[in-house]
Amino acid sequence: MKKLLKIVLVSSVSLLFFSCYYDEFPEDIPVDLPEDQVVSFSEDITPIFVTYNCTDCHNASGQNPDLTPGSEYNSLVPSYVTAGNSNGSKLYTKLAEGHRNVDATSLALIKKWIDDGAENN
Ligand code: HEC
Repeated sequence: MKKLLKIVLVSSVSLLFFSCYYDEFPEDIPVDLPEDQVVSFSEDITPIFVTYNCTDCHNASGQNPDLTPGSEYNSLVPSYVTAGNSNGSKLYTKLAEGHRNVDATSLALIKKWIDDGAENN
């Protein structure tokens, strides 16, 4: 009887331990950009939309946000981007969840651009 109690106890403790483990994605992006790097919307962010053909689906007559050249910024800010808060910005969280398999460096650039104020620079 004591042995059974022990087994139950050990299993519940390990169950508790393992069920509490989860990935805090998108918190841990494996790319660290230099703190003082200035991320430019026009030079660093919009090329990502071109590389991944985002406008195939995200255009004026398609899915929001409209990511066609000239429309991207006003379409993203403030609806999909909250300046200073990447984890509260759909643009970042959607891509960090795996939408279109965007590479880690591009994700880090988007994250830093948002956290640094999401300027139209
Ligand atoms: C093959 C078509 C397609 C491509 C290419 C595509 N998307 Fe999307 N995207 C969608 C669809 C459909 C949705 C809405 C359904 C969903 O949330 O998955 C969506 C949703 C989103 C959302 C969330 C919108 C909301 O209202 O919540 C964002 C942000 C976004 N996409 C950004 C992008 C970016 C940035 C790219 C390029 C890296 C991209 N998408 C490429 C089809 C696409």
